[in-house]
Amino acid sequence: MKKHNFSAGPSILPQEVFQKAAEAILDFNGMGLSLLEISHRSKEFVAVMDEARAIVKRLMNLGDDYEVLYLQGGASLQFLMVPMNLLTENGKAAYLDTGTWAAGAIKEAKKIGNVDVVASSKDANYSFIPKDYTVGSEYDYFHCTSNNTIFGTQIKEFPHVDTLMACDMSSDIFSRQLDFSKFDLIYAGAQKNMGPAGTTLVVVKKDILGKTGRNIPTYLDYAVHIAKESMANTPPVFAVYASYLTLKHLEDNGGIAAAEQKNNAKAKLLYDEIDRNPNFQGVAAVEDRSFMNVTFTLTDESKKEAFDNAWKAAGISGLNGHRSVGGYRASIYNAMPIESVQVLVDVMKSI
Ligand SMILES: Cc1ncc(COP(=O)(O)O)c(C=O)c1O
Repeated sequence: MKKHNFSAGPSILPQEVFQKAAEAILDFNGMGLSLLEISHRSKEFVAVMDEARAIVKRLMNLGDDYEVLYLQGGASLQFLMVPMNLLTENGKAAYLDTGTWAAGAIKEAKKIGNVDVVASSKDANYSFIPKDYTVGSEYDYFHCTSNNTIFGTQIKEFPHVDTLMACDMSSDIFSRQLDFSKFDLIYAGAQKNMGPAGTTLVVVKKDILGKTGRNIPTYLDYAVHIAKESMANTPPVFAVYASYLTLKHLEDNGGIAAAEQKNNAKAKLLYDEIDRNPNFQGVAAVEDRSFMNVTFTLTDESKKEAFDNAWKAAGISGLNGHRSVGGYRASIYNAMPIESVQVLVDVMKSI
């Protein structure tokens, strides 16, 4: 039986993507060759890369002032590449500290230059999104994390800032409609809503680059990757292909608007049960609740064994919370069907 996979990432992807990716490993596009054994410079793979980049622009409704890159090193390398490419020698950057990953980005940026943490919810174990701050034009850029995978909080309304805005969207990219043109740089590790681990999406507004006065190491320079069309070195061909399949599946099934509708329904179903059922309580502040990672705890720990046995018996996988939060985390990414959420809700009702 296929499990109901609530894993936080790597995570569930559309079944059709698994099928097509598996076929491409055996015989790619009827070439009589595996995707894994053809040159990344073959016209067949270049077409995949070009289309993967084009779909992102279509989904985000962005024009030619933006470039789309598929890089390696995960979102973690972007923690370093963003300041390398945007923080001027004597300038400073503003960061919003909303979780472990945001703190990771801050740590790397501090290695490159001056960083001000404009607001933080660390003292409350990151259970809410701070909103009381301003970011003026004295900063080279502002960095935020749209969705905090571990704590289950999500920025619902992005702030107005008087500088560039860079955002780590690793765990809610393509899950909701946003005005993406408000952002100057977006990045996301692929392994939640847009593919397998191994590639990282970067969407960058071209005219913000080249202003730091820094001699950026070649591989860390966005301009190099733009000039080489994401082929500065051998790209992770399988990860890019599976990401392309995932995004094509999204586009063919109504795009972000349709995904958002489904995501809202799934989140409502689950949060309604958390709020209704006296055995459970949510971890995150209600107004900041993530529609991707739903964190909750039992109100009575003596029910832990019964609940754990029940969800495992129902074929549910990946429900344990992150060690820094405890309890449970149900990750309900784009590919998660509402039927699986219903299975979880039924188990919650049963204990
Ligand atoms: C919001 C967020 N940022 C960054 C990361 C780190 O991503 P990677 O493992 O691709 O470096 C994660 C991983 O889960 C994440 O959820």
